[in-house]
Amino acid sequence: MNLPPELIVYLRSSTRVAVLTGAGISQESGLRTFREARDGLWTQYKPEDLASREAFAQNPKLVWDWYAMRREKVRGVLPNPGHYALAELERRIPTFTLITQNVDGLHLKAGSANIIELHGNLQRVKCSECGRATVEWVETEGSVPICLVCGGLLRPDVVWFGESLPRAALETAVLACRECEIFFSIGTSGLVQPAASLAYAARNRGAKLVEINAEQTSLTEKVDFALQGKSGEILPALLSAAW
Ligand code: APR
Repeated sequence: MNLPPELIVYLRSSTRVAVLTGAGISQESGLRTFREARDGLWTQYKPEDLASREAFAQNPKLVWDWYAMRREKVRGVLPNPGHYALAELERRIPTFTLITQNVDGLHLKAGSANIIELHGNLQRVKCSECGRATVEWVETEGSVPICLVCGGLLRPDVVWFGESLPRAALETAVLACRECEIFFSIGTSGLVQPAASLAYAARNRGAKLVEINAEQTSLTEKVDFALQGKSGEILPALLSAAW
């Protein structure tokens, strides 16, 4: 794989790196990206019709079951070489921040530590009334589990369409992007805000932009290095070329 030599040199000498990942980095683990066709029972629904407060209010059990299916699907899925390469990169770069739009928890499974989960995590739920988050709950056949504190319905602890991102997570992500020397956009179509603006927060402070994506996006023409292909192949190659 021919990688730009100047990128290798720059990466090796960098001390502050920020990375934004999207569904594309988990595609080689067998998880469909967000905008690929959906399979099986759920093809009749668009994610936008299930991942929203309105959908949950209208039919909590349907939404709960969709996320239970996705949680079950992710349980047996393993990280791929792209996730592992980012975990290794974190060990080599003094200040490394991994910002992900994914809720599949694969970066954690791969050993990454400094992770900002912009859109939440499938393995966590929270109360739709008092907001209390937990990774343990009592499943009740045929109905949506309830909060042990206030009795409200539990819901997935993910950011739904129309909801704002967790403020602390977003602020930390923006700060990391403003301070980094290299910003990587990996496996994301860059269609959803505010995650899609992070690249510009980095560029406006003079960071080099690198995109690793299977197809062109609206960011491609604005980056310093556009590496088109599979992140599970490009990231390990980048790492072995630099160290
Ligand atoms: N390697 C690199 N890129 C890949 C790979 C791969 N193996 N496979 C797919 N891609 C690219 C696709 O070309 C696409 O541009 O990953 C991108 C995935 O884009 P989306 O499916 O739009 O996913 P994402 O960008 O993560 O969506 C962002 O939108 O719906 C919301 O909250 C949801 O977090 C999601 C957000």
